[in-house]
Parts: sequence; C-alpha cells; structure tokens
Amino acid sequence: MGISLPRTLQYLLVMFSGILAGAFPLAPAFAQNDINIEFRGAGESIKVLSLDELRAITPAVSLKVFEIHENVERTYRAFPARPVLDYVFGKDWKKVREIVFTSIDGYRPSIPVAKFLAHDAYLAFAYEDGTPFTLTNTLQNNETVQLGPLYLVWDNIDSKALLAAGASDMSYQIKRVALESTSDLSNMSPPSGSSAEAQSGFMHFRKHCMACHTINGEGGGKAPELNYPASVVEYIKPEYLKRWIENPISIRYNTTMPGLAKEIPNRRKITEELIAYLKAISSSKRAPPETN
Ligand code: HEC
Repeated sequence: MGISLPRTLQYLLVMFSGILAGAFPLAPAFAQNDINIEFRGAGESIKVLSLDELRAITPAVSLKVFEIHENVERTYRAFPARPVLDYVFGKDWKKVREIVFTSIDGYRPSIPVAKFLAHDAYLAFAYEDGTPFTLTNTLQNNETVQLGPLYLVWDNIDSKALLAAGASDMSYQIKRVALESTSDLSNMSPPSGSSAEAQSGFMHFRKHCMACHTINGEGGGKAPELNYPASVVEYIKPEYLKRWIENPISIRYNTTMPGLAKEIPNRRKITEELIAYLKAISSSKRAPPETN
C-alpha cells in the first residue's frame, strides 16, 4: 500500500505540469515537450537535455520491440542510446563499468556498459501511433504505468539473449542517467568473513533486487528497505521468505513485487543464496544516510 499514494501524486504532478506546459492539457500522457533528463558522471551533473535537444543530437527513429511487460510487439519513437551517450559523456563512457538509470518511481537499475556495447539500446519517448505513453505491467499486478519522460528499450525482436533477459533492464520513467565507474556499495556489502554462499547471494541481490530495494540505505527507492532497523530475516519466517522471493503473489494477493523470474536457471539455489546474504548483512546494520 505504501507506494500507491505517491504514485497517484506523481500522476497528478505529471498532469499538472502538462497543463502548465500548455501542450496537451487534456491528454497528460502526451505532454512530453517539457522533459528534462539529467546526465551525471563522476558524481556531478554534466547536462540537462530536453526532447528538442535530444533531437538535435540524433534523429528519432521508429523501433519495433517485443514488449516484455505486456507480451506484445509495440513500436516506439526513440533515440538510439549510443550517439546520446557519446555526445554527453564523450567516447570514454565505454570504459566505465555501469550505467545507472533513475526513474521517477524510484526504480534504479545498474546496467553493465558491456550490454550497451553488445546490444542496441534506445531511449523511447512516445508510441509511434500516438496513443498515450503508458503500459499495463503484467509483471506488476497489471498496474498501468506512465513510461515517460524516457523509456529504455532494446532492439530485442531478433535477440534470444535480450528476450531471455526479461524486463529488468527495460526501465521506464527515466529522469536521470549516471555513469558509475567504481560503485561504492560499502554499506550493503556482506561483512568480511561471510560465507561464499552469502557472497554469491550479494551478487544476485545486485542483479535481481537492488534496482527496487535498499539495504542500509543503498540501492533503489521503489520498494522498502530490507535490513534497517530490522531485517526481513528477523521478522519473516524462513519458509515464507523463500516463498516471497519466488512467488510474492502467493503471499500477498495484490503485491506489485515481481517474483524471481521463472526462466532463471538454478532458481532455488539463487533464492537460498539470497537469503544467506540477507542473513549475513543482518549482522551489519547501518542507518541510511540522511540524503537520498
Ligand atoms: C520491481 C521492484 C522489485 C524488485 C525487483 C524486487 N522487489 Fe521486493 N518488493 C517490492 C515491493 C514494491 C515490495 C512491497 C510489496 C508489498 O508490500 O506488497 C517488496 C517487498 C519485499 C519484501 C517484503 C518486505 C516487507 O517488510 O514486507 C521482501 C523480503 C522483498 N521484497 C525481497 C526482495 C528480494 C530478495 C528481491 C530480489 C530477488 C526483490 N525483493 C526484488 C519490489 C521489488
């Protein structure tokens, strides 16, 4: 329940800013003229770009994508990501380890730069057919979500690897793009001397959970903190925690948390390692920093 109120507020805010912009007062989903995307590198703001400024960097194209959130094909108007990254950061972005996208709803995936070199990413800002820029997220209890300001999509139609990777790197509501060379995750790293199982669990947590959740304040802001002041391993019974990770809807009927994807190989082992990590980090609680 905690996240539904802010969501409504966000929607009102988007609608209100649409009215202020005077773009399409009756169709807030189209009000994309006033977007401002912040680009950050080395902890500093480098540029803030509007849609027109993005258009001046590289022309928009039409891109057909298999929309994993909805299980259908969709055609987007989008900018190829590489020329935008080249323009903002110079060629050196390719030497960095990860690109972190921050969404309005708090989702914050870190995506390896290698993925942007191996595959074609695009920043979408509208549907080609001009319908409202939203989708129905079948992975999140069929919530209708706003996709703008920008939506990270991939040229995935002919790529088995991208289709198998699922929707976690398709990030919507992007407002900020940041390069991370050495991601400092000192607050959420397992304490020294933790088991190999807990160390693997930490890697899984970074891949599958950190875009939404924080541990000791580090991570995404879309879902609850899991370690501080009390850890989920302390207040959720072990058998329920396992079930929650694999199939949250079997515990809370209307939850928007997606379970660990069924396609992931060794899913049971991954769940166990995740829990080993959560147990290890529960002995190292730290108050999240004040700022967000
Ligand atoms: C797309 C975002 C998202 C991802 C990814 C995600 N979660 Fe969640 N998670 C949520 C949301 C939202 C809630 C709150 C759900 C609710 O209250 O119904 C939640 C709740 C939880 C809770 C219960 C917390 C409580 O106190 O009730 C646990 C435990 C949890 N998640 C663990 C995980 C683990 C482990 C992973 C990685 C395998 C993960 N989550 C991945 C969004 C996410």
